[in-house]
This record gives sequence, structure tokens and C-alpha cells, in this order.
Amino acid sequence: MNKTPLIQWYEKNGRHNLPWRTTTNAYHIYLSEIMLQQTQVKTVLDRFYFQFLEKFPTLEKIAVATQDEVLKAWEGLGYYTRARNLHKTAQLISSTGLPQTVEELDALPGIGPSTANAIACFAFDVKEPILDGNVKRILYRYFKTKVANDKELWKHSYKLFKANKNFAYEHNQALMDIGSTVCTRTQPKCEICPLNNSCQGKNSPLEYPTKKVKKKKEIRIRYLVIYTCKHQVALFKNKSNLLKGLWSFKQYSDELDENKYIYQGKIKHEYSHISLRARVYTKEVDRKYFEHWFEEEALQDIALSKVDHKALALLS
Ligand code: ADE
Repeated sequence: MNKTPLIQWYEKNGRHNLPWRTTTNAYHIYLSEIMLQQTQVKTVLDRFYFQFLEKFPTLEKIAVATQDEVLKAWEGLGYYTRARNLHKTAQLISSTGLPQTVEELDALPGIGPSTANAIACFAFDVKEPILDGNVKRILYRYFKTKVANDKELWKHSYKLFKANKNFAYEHNQALMDIGSTVCTRTQPKCEICPLNNSCQGKNSPLEYPTKKVKKKKEIRIRYLVIYTCKHQVALFKNKSNLLKGLWSFKQYSDELDENKYIYQGKIKHEYSHISLRARVYTKEVDRKYFEHWFEEEALQDIALSKVDHKALALLS
């Protein structure tokens, strides 16, 4: 079977040493795909992948851990729904291992169609293409498409995949590498792209896809209070979508009476859709007012959001 330029390019230029590419351990591959859904390779490699595997070397270890422990290992990586779903998935399958079909993978919490195909392909040699954000951009350009829905993009993905079906693994990994190093959002390097012979958009790649009008970020003003009682601080289980399950300090949306709280400083934090600005206060109160109190030294073992870490740092 002849190899297409894409497969030849991958053999020569692919990032073969990425640790999830040098293993056949399905759990390691699954974990990498979940981490990489919303986080760049470098961050995952530098700070999270190995550390997480050290804490949780098997799915069984995740399954028997508490959600707090899993969130702590995920702390700083953001998009914590991924960690909660990882925990749920581990509990569902730890006795049987990861299922090997796309359908079963797709049915697990936190695994959508593209991730299901990626795991099935990389761990179990299932010959299916993928469609993550980077691959979508390649397809928009390759097929000179300005606007498309997922159904159309999946069709494109299968079309491009057809010639490489026998090299499904290489095809998918190659597209990930091209998406992050060649067909980049703002500076595509078409001259070195192995798809450039047949790419329809190569003369004006920046025109594809049509740029979405960026929604202005919501500026969210909050008043954050670290309640203390002797050497303990009060924490509250976060119920917001963004940080559900993490422990947090109290946040108020209404301005506080500065006579009743001690002002410590202000912090800023950028979420993908929200720009948070908070004024941080402390207040000494009686234990009876709140349920969950923690020794200050114990906070390092508890999963806190970045905002809460920033608030805490103002005190030291
Ligand atoms: N992003 C998502 N999956 C990836 C993989 N297997 N290699 C590199 N980047 C990725």
C-alpha cells in the first residue's frame, strides 16, 4: 500500500516521542486525550500528565479515590468537568477496563465522538478519523469551506481519511501535529504542509473558516471573603458549573461594608468567557457560622481554584 504525503510526513516529522504515543496502555492514552481536549501539549507534558499518573497509576486507583482527591490532582488544569467525568468513568469501568468500541467509549461521561474515535484508534487500532478543533481548521481550509456544521465537517473528515485508512493511527496523529505546528490559526505554513498539493484553500488559508464575531468577555466583579477562626479558614463546596466540586472562599456579588471586613487587595483572573475582578477581604468569625473549617496548612492538600489561590496569596 502506497503511503500518501501525509503519512510520509508523519513518519519523518511527527512528534513520535510524546509519551501517549510510545505506550499501548489504554488508560494512559485515554487520560492524555481528556487532558488534551482543552489544554496544550506543552502544559500537559510539563505539569500534569506524569504527575497525575504518579498519583493514579491505574483506573482502579481513580475509582476508589474521592472526587476531592481527583480534583486535587487536576488542580490548575481547569475545565474541572473533565476531572469529575474521569472519576465517574473510572468508577463505571475500572473492573472491566476501557471498552474497545467507539460506541461504548462514546457512551462514557466526558467522551464525545472525536475523543471516542481518538481513543479507539490510538489504543485499540480502530480505523476511524477524528474531528477536534485543530482538525476542523485543517478541513475548513483543505476543502475551502467558510462555514459548516459538525455533520458536514465529519463528512470532510472521512473524505480526507479515506486514502489513509490503513494508516489510521498515523493519519490522526499527523493531523494533530499539523494542526498545532503547520496549519496554525494565524500563521499557516502552507509551503511545508504535506497536504498542500491537494489543499483547496492554500492560496488564502486565513479566509477559512469565516471568523466568528468574538463575544465580548463578561467582566464579573466579585467580593471575596476569607472567613477565619483562629488558624482555620472556612471553605464552601463550589456549585457553579465552572468549578463544581472544588472548595472555594465565599464570593458575593454585592459590595461589602468595608467597616466590617479587612481589605487585603484585589485579584484578576481570566476564564475563557469571563474576566473576573475581585476585591479580597478577611473576617474573623465564630465557628458556628459555617460548616467546613480547614487548618491553613491543610489547604495545600485541597483542590482550590486559581482565583482562590490568588486570594490566599494576598495573605502571605
Ligand atoms: N491533542 C489531542 N490528542 C492529541 C495527541 N494524541 N497528540 C497531540 N496532541 C493531541
